[in-house]
Amino acid sequence: MATQPMIVILMGPPGAGKGTQAKRLAAKLGIPHIASGDIFRWHVHNQTELGKIAKPYMDKGELVPDDVTIAMVIDRLSQPDCADGVLLDGFPRTLPQAQALDERFAELGWCIHVVPYIRVSEEVLLRRLSGRWICRNCGAVYHIEFRPPAKPGVCDVCGGPLYQRSDDKPETAKRRLAVYFEQTEPVLAYYEKQGLLVEVDGERSIEEVEQALLRAVKFAEKGN
Ligand code: AP5
Repeated sequence: MATQPMIVILMGPPGAGKGTQAKRLAAKLGIPHIASGDIFRWHVHNQTELGKIAKPYMDKGELVPDDVTIAMVIDRLSQPDCADGVLLDGFPRTLPQAQALDERFAELGWCIHVVPYIRVSEEVLLRRLSGRWICRNCGAVYHIEFRPPAKPGVCDVCGGPLYQRSDDKPETAKRRLAVYFEQTEPVLAYYEKQGLLVEVDGERSIEEVEQALLRAVKFAEKGN
């Protein structure tokens, strides 16, 4: 029997540390990291048709419509590098997205392995978003207070310039959190009912959260 690809869906509110952890986990698990937000930002930066559609929603902290987002992620999942598994970050974020993903996985004969959920309080989330800096070249994520680069404004990994996301402005960040509670929290219940959700305390150090996430993946592996 062919081995099942490893499908991990990392959930958590804006600023919980999904991107930070997904990069580490994907490297350790040897599977690609697919982040819907990163794909949208690439399209916005390169002024593609998809970027022009997504930009007004992202600027306001709203979700990009489901039909556009689902088509984009399903297309990405068809790429050959996903054959052995994927780590999804930022998708699904609505129930229709979760259902569309299930339908696609059913067609492919794939099963979701585990859905780790990084829990962080609202107060900490806002502090994390307001202090975040990202490398324009390689996407490495820093925090002015919790994970500062060795040289201000310069990436430790590749020497690229660091920038702040425009949707991290306090008003937009608050709107993103509100949208998360309204539209994405129901997705947690959807996966909990299927016995896939594993909660991880996201207020510990980056290294401790990483260890907890790796344990959640390994534990699910044994159970499958
Ligand atoms: P997206 O890019 O997915 O943003 P998000 O979910 O809001 O998540 P973030 O990237 O803000 O946070 P994160 O959890 O990755 O945290 P990070 O690791 O950077 O989406 C952006 C927009 O795109 C959406 O608003 C929407 O418009 C659109 N979009 C995307 N997907 C969509 C979808 N499926 N449907 C519709 N629209 C969609 O960490 C944050 C900071 O904290 C960093 O500075 C980091 O260094 C620091 N940090 C991390 N962990 C720790 C720790 N343990 N201790 C201390 N500091 C830490």
